[in-house]
Amino acid sequence: MCSVNFEKKIFVNPPQPYWIASTDITNYPALEEDITADVAIIGGGMAGIVTAWLLVEKGLRVVIIDADRIISGTSGHTTAKITSQHALIYDNIKTKLGEEMAKQYVEANETAIKIISDLVEKNNIDCDFQRTDAYVYTQEDKYVEKILREIEAASSLGIEAEYRDKIDLPIEIKVAECFRNQAQFHPRKFLLALADKFVERGGQIFENTRAVDVQEGSKAVVLTENGKKVTAENVILASHYPFYDKPGLYFTRLYPERSYILCIKIKDSYPGGMYISAEDPGRSLRSVPSGEGELILVGGEHHKTGHGDNMAKHYENLLQFADRVFEVEDVLYRWSAQDYTTADEIPYAGRLTSKTPNIYVATGFRKWGMTNSVAAARVISDLITTGNSSWHDVYNPSRFTPAASAKNFIVENADVAKQLITGKLAPVPEDIELEPGEGKIVEIRSEKAGAFRDENGQLHLVDTTCTHLGCELVWNSAERTWDCPCHGSRFSYEGDIVEGPAVKIIKLSRRQE
Ligand code: FES
Repeated sequence: MCSVNFEKKIFVNPPQPYWIASTDITNYPALEEDITADVAIIGGGMAGIVTAWLLVEKGLRVVIIDADRIISGTSGHTTAKITSQHALIYDNIKTKLGEEMAKQYVEANETAIKIISDLVEKNNIDCDFQRTDAYVYTQEDKYVEKILREIEAASSLGIEAEYRDKIDLPIEIKVAECFRNQAQFHPRKFLLALADKFVERGGQIFENTRAVDVQEGSKAVVLTENGKKVTAENVILASHYPFYDKPGLYFTRLYPERSYILCIKIKDSYPGGMYISAEDPGRSLRSVPSGEGELILVGGEHHKTGHGDNMAKHYENLLQFADRVFEVEDVLYRWSAQDYTTADEIPYAGRLTSKTPNIYVATGFRKWGMTNSVAAARVISDLITTGNSSWHDVYNPSRFTPAASAKNFIVENADVAKQLITGKLAPVPEDIELEPGEGKIVEIRSEKAGAFRDENGQLHLVDTTCTHLGCELVWNSAERTWDCPCHGSRFSYEGDIVEGPAVKIIKLSRRQE
């Protein structure tokens, strides 16, 4: 029995990440004139800002544009674990892609930890950076063999992966793998400081500036929603999902997932460490030092974006798990995050296609964007400044995908075509009886619409055809958004874009009845 009144604690307040609640909102200007640069970066998250920093340090003129405020997307919604332990991955990479690729992945992610730690130290960034151990554990027999194989694979690649039959959490486990001396931090404190330093070095940041197209060429042109242009020798798509996705057919090569996080207070003290379970759906834990005392992040419950009919239950499941492990005193924040995964589970970082020498992409970080985005930043900055990167092969977006990975991916993405067809044909109720806080698809005067009634009784109607490639949107009751089950675009109940790849809103001219 949960010690916290869940309904009361969770659903009265809208979702908000602790990272955003505990830092100031940025106020960079929107782009209001055409400009030129050596490098234009689209997306001001971890990948964009770290790449910008590495390039401005080399003396390049760099511009970041962001459709919203910087660090408000996935980098502001992460669990912010800085580790090369990416759940169970090394046995998989070694088996499917070979030892050389696995070694590149290890080196890239271990170097990323060092890059972050060096940036913190050299620039005196106050971001709650702490060294701590990372664990993958299981409570079920069927995952024991997998963890043992992972320890063997990671050790063979030079990682000090240690076997454990106990961990400091108050739960019984079968086995765990430990990576010593990993790290955690406050991602916004880190990135806000780095963004300031980037601007001090001459970099430029423009917020509320949505890129809507790219014109390729030796001088590429980024077109923005308000008609202004950035002309640059190099363009980097670092907006999570690459909105410019037709070259390279990225919409067939990435699938979106959502996962959920509760930020809680517990009665006892937390034993330290970052944890993730091998089970599916997994459970993730870490602590956060804060002005409100020690907080604990409880994450998990991943599922394909736009799938499932009661998204709110995911928060309930996390709270029940937390209450089994600790005595939960309070739930202070809740939020969810979106992640994209590639066919072989390794990100794409490098040239968008083999035919676009000066357009780069960084995407598909799965749930391990803190180190993978920094590795991607290093790959792309090296490609731009030296023409090469030691980790180019493993991150190359044009790399060969082994048949086994491709087959798994086809299964993961099989519902895209189905969603395009069945979503359109699904029966629609004719009434628009909605309780405050409820949303659903309705039919009004023979027109299909997405309807949501807010707490003041006002009805908000949107077009439920996704403006990316036309799939039918699904109501997300946990976040009060309209989500696309195909490639993960999300829209507010008023029709504004919450996240891409869509670049057009879904507002209806008729707004209320
Ligand atoms: Fe691609 Fe909606 S995100 S169709």
